[in-house]
Amino acid sequence: MFISPKQAVEILNANGIVALPTETVYGLAANATNENAIQKVFAAKNRPADNPLIVHFKNKEQLLIEVDAQTLYLETLINHFSPGPLSYLLKLKEGSKLKYATAGSDFVVARIPDQKIFLQILSSIPFPLAAPSANSSGKISPTNAQMVAADLGNKIDGIVDGGICAVGLESTIIDCTKEKAIHILRPGIIGKKELETVLANAFPAVNVFNSDTSDHITPGKKYKHYAPSAPVFEIKQLNDHEFSEGDALLITQEQQEKFNTELKKIAAKKSTIIILGKISDAENIATHLYSNLKNIDNHQCHTAYILQTDWGTSSAAIAIANRLRKIIQTTD
Ligand code: TXA
Ligand code: MG
Repeated sequence: MFISPKQAVEILNANGIVALPTETVYGLAANATNENAIQKVFAAKNRPADNPLIVHFKNKEQLLIEVDAQTLYLETLINHFSPGPLSYLLKLKEGSKLKYATAGSDFVVARIPDQKIFLQILSSIPFPLAAPSANSSGKISPTNAQMVAADLGNKIDGIVDGGICAVGLESTIIDCTKEKAIHILRPGIIGKKELETVLANAFPAVNVFNSDTSDHITPGKKYKHYAPSAPVFEIKQLNDHEFSEGDALLITQEQQEKFNTELKKIAAKKSTIIILGKISDAENIATHLYSNLKNIDNHQCHTAYILQTDWGTSSAAIAIANRLRKIIQTTD
């Protein structure tokens, strides 16, 4: 099941599908220009046929060949943020071969990943790689090779183990189809602040919006994402729930220090306590968030509770809060 990058190249050339590490999460990669290869990705993930796949390029030149990029700021953003965890929604050129990957859409979400193995593989093949996160539809994105193996191991042609993904959350997706406005369709560790800083000098008239409003193409909105098997509820304080065996409690390190006595009682009742990390180091929480969520299932907990907290205003914090909002059950 685990294969070398060289074997991955052979499989991809033969239109097979392999899981590869990126700096964000593991991707399930396939020749983005081949209908058969793309269909295998949809089948392995059990992904709805109308949910397009993100496409990965080796460099700016390969990316720009495929798109009809009219916005002036695009190259500035690519020069600054790519390779990196930023994806650009762009219009495809007429007659593009990437339409299998985009599920028929005239728009593509494109990125250049910042991961040595992935880039090496991209430079050994003549086509870009479609690579949605390497999880079954509806499950948590994998941030290490073992998570991929447990979920998709027997449905794909191999996994390249590149260790733990450095970022740990999916890339930021921005709509780059409008001249004066950039909409963040999916928040990630590159956020409004970082984008505005780079645009400020050359493109002061371009506004960045933290919005995934419905008049834009909204990735992931239609489908549920990132959920562990156990339902997750938010609690305002620890005594909002009577903890017992089979419960998981997710808290930050700051909360762990503050509620030390209460937590000892919860641990004594055989509940699983998962420490997410320090809010003051949100990027570190992001790196381990999905493997921590996976631990809810690994410990066979039937229900999880997350203690309410203020995540803060950094781009990583906004992305973490966004992912948690998607998994927390509402009781109304
Ligand atoms: O960091 C990432 O972006 C990872 C790594 C592997 O690169 N990939 C990833 O892919 O998160 P995926 O498929 O799990 O999430 C991409 C999101 C999906 O919600 C999909 O609906 C949306 O982007 N998307 C992809 N192509 C699109 C398109 N052409 N138009 C609109 N939405 C698109
Ligand atoms: Mg995904």
